[in-house]
Amino acid sequence: MLTIERDYSLLGHNTFGIDVRTFAFVEYHSEEELSEAAAMLRDGRLPSPWLHIGGGSNLLFTKDWPGTVLHSRITGLEVLHSDADTVTVRVGSGVVWDDFVGECVDRGWYGAENLSGIPGEAGAAAVQNIGAYGVEASDLIAEVDTMDMADGTVRVFQAADCGYGYRRSIFKQLENKRYVVTSVTLRLGLKVRYNLEYKALSTFFKGNMLEVSLSLVREAVLSIRDSKLPDPAVQGSAGSFFTNPVVPVAKLQELQRQWPDIPYYAQVDGTGVKLSAGWLIEQCGWKGRSIGRAGVYPKQALVLVNLGGASGREISALATAVRTSVRDKFGVELHPEVNIF
Ligand code: EPU
Repeated sequence: MLTIERDYSLLGHNTFGIDVRTFAFVEYHSEEELSEAAAMLRDGRLPSPWLHIGGGSNLLFTKDWPGTVLHSRITGLEVLHSDADTVTVRVGSGVVWDDFVGECVDRGWYGAENLSGIPGEAGAAAVQNIGAYGVEASDLIAEVDTMDMADGTVRVFQAADCGYGYRRSIFKQLENKRYVVTSVTLRLGLKVRYNLEYKALSTFFKGNMLEVSLSLVREAVLSIRDSKLPDPAVQGSAGSFFTNPVVPVAKLQELQRQWPDIPYYAQVDGTGVKLSAGWLIEQCGWKGRSIGRAGVYPKQALVLVNLGGASGREISALATAVRTSVRDKFGVELHPEVNIF
């Protein structure tokens, strides 16, 4: 059954902990129910515009939503195929991402363990192309099942057609917002294979290689995250607020003349170099500072936090101030990773 709430608070549906309301809030448990909601939106039984959310861990609401907010309750994990090397599984868009990762680790499926502890749900993981510690969701995704909200039909996208890049997919583009992800098909490995190149992880395991196991990698990732990122259950945030900016090599060389130690990472696709937004923000003196009830997290300058009862506008004002400082000091533009409404 579709669950429909009217004049509903979204406080429990965004990890920043912003208390805004929506005219209607709709949860669906199957493709059929989503198709019914799509029809209700088309004929006006549900108010437009609509917005689809996952776990609300990458969202900043600055005002009430003047239409319908949709949320998937499609759950389930199904093994579609396996051979000697890989297993292919389909996971419902409403499955909590970290529950899925925990399941992979328990079943001895390799590939998702570095993505432990990321808040949010499987559907949003495929839209956002979540990534951490050298792995991105797109490394594992084989295909994405969606519903076209314009007519309630199903459309399946192969990974190669999803336009995946760093925190990028076609589903984030305005013209493709009509596609709602209903399930995600991922391919995991069955042979022992770890990805421990990310510095914080390799440091964790240095001299300890014999002990590496899937569950230990998961534990290591969870403990590294814990040391740098706030627990959304304790302090409101949406993880990294900005993406790490990619700049041309010539821009890096210009910056290196003044800041020889500036951290950077070569981009595999040769599009330039990725700078650390956290470093840029820290250099501007923002780490641990606040404006009103919005703060820059003292352990990770890329994370903005709700110090208690902040409005979305206060967080957004802090983000603008941070962005302006980085632009003025380094001539580098930061772009929000968080979706702001
Ligand atoms: N740094 C600083 N000061 C800071 C923060 C970072 O100097 O306050 C510099 C350091 O040089 C550090 C480097 O930035 O070595 C990288 O920092 P970190 O390993 O914390 O990673 P990040 O680039 O800040 C990205 C992702 C995170 C992900 C980590 C680990 C983005 C926007 N963020 O952060 O993802 O967990 O790498 O892979 O790409 C998220 O997307 O919400 C998120 C938390």
